[in-house]
Amino acid sequence: MLQELKIGFVGGGNMAAALIEGLLQAGAQSDRIMVSEPDAARRQWLQEKFKLQVLEENGTLMRNVPQVVILAVKPGKVSGVLWELRPFWQEGQLLLSIAAGIDLASLQRALPEGQAVVRVMPNTPALIGEGISALFAPASLSAKERQWAKEIMAVSGEVVEIEDESLMDGITALSGSGPAYVYLIAEALSDGGVACGLPRPLADRLAIRTLIGSARLLDVSGSHPGVLKNQVTSPGGTTIAGVARLESAGVRGALIEAVQAAWQRSRTLSGHA
Ligand SMILES: NC(=O)c1ccc[n+]([C@@H]2O[C@H](COP(=O)([O-])OP(=O)(O)OC[C@H]3O[C@@H](n4cnc5c(N)ncnc54)[C@H](OP(=O)(O)O)[C@@H]3O)[C@@H](O)[C@H]2O)c1
Repeated sequence: MLQELKIGFVGGGNMAAALIEGLLQAGAQSDRIMVSEPDAARRQWLQEKFKLQVLEENGTLMRNVPQVVILAVKPGKVSGVLWELRPFWQEGQLLLSIAAGIDLASLQRALPEGQAVVRVMPNTPALIGEGISALFAPASLSAKERQWAKEIMAVSGEVVEIEDESLMDGITALSGSGPAYVYLIAEALSDGGVACGLPRPLADRLAIRTLIGSARLLDVSGSHPGVLKNQVTSPGGTTIAGVARLESAGVRGALIEAVQAAWQRSRTLSGHA
């Protein structure tokens, strides 16, 4: 299906580039993908890297009538850009918004009545095809349009569909903000290694590969994290000594509270609290 779709990106930043890369790798035709981007240097970069149609004006992109228009500008620009796109919409076109914190009702208000729209929350590992995206579509969205959205986002990693939009604030707090928590843990693990006398480059590699390997084992094995933790904690051994210190420092509670704090902040920013 991707090969047949005509896709237009409004905004050619990091997320757009990641999705374009994934789409081309998945077999989409470069002559069926276009981007509108105001920055001349960025346009040139996109053109050279992907050899596709890169336009200066959003109106020109809309006149080419892409079946799926991917809104990939920063949230603060969404309202102005949708206003600019408003006269161009045609029946059968789908708006796929990846803008964080902009709910479906706000998107719908800026579109002609009945225009198809879907909201997606990706995360930064999408930049290397290892993301997870939560997709929310109104019940009115056709099965075909739903499939378009899922196939497009699948090029950046896993896609989960949710049926209750209010979950988006929790998703933002967990998978959207989550990469930052993991980077903090990676940095602290490396610091711990250095405190034990390891050279920094070695400590960095050990920390990164431990996080990647453990996460992949957790994913592939399907085991509960507690089961895998128990497998590496031998009685009276080194690992249980480290685990005991994490528990007395309240790391588990701190992570739970970090996600809750991000959730509260997301609710405030999106006007839900
Ligand atoms: N990055 C992430 O991990 C992530 C995760 C979840 C959701 N998102 C969402 O994805 C969206 C894009 O994020 P990003 O990280 O890709 O941002 P970005 O790199 O800043 O990309 C946005 C692009 O849109 C361009 N732009 C600005 N005004 C425009 C206009 N009027 N018409 C067309 N293009 C315009 C910007 O150009 P200039 O630089 O010239 O302004 C920039 O190239 C955001 O809404 C964000 O909330 C991102």
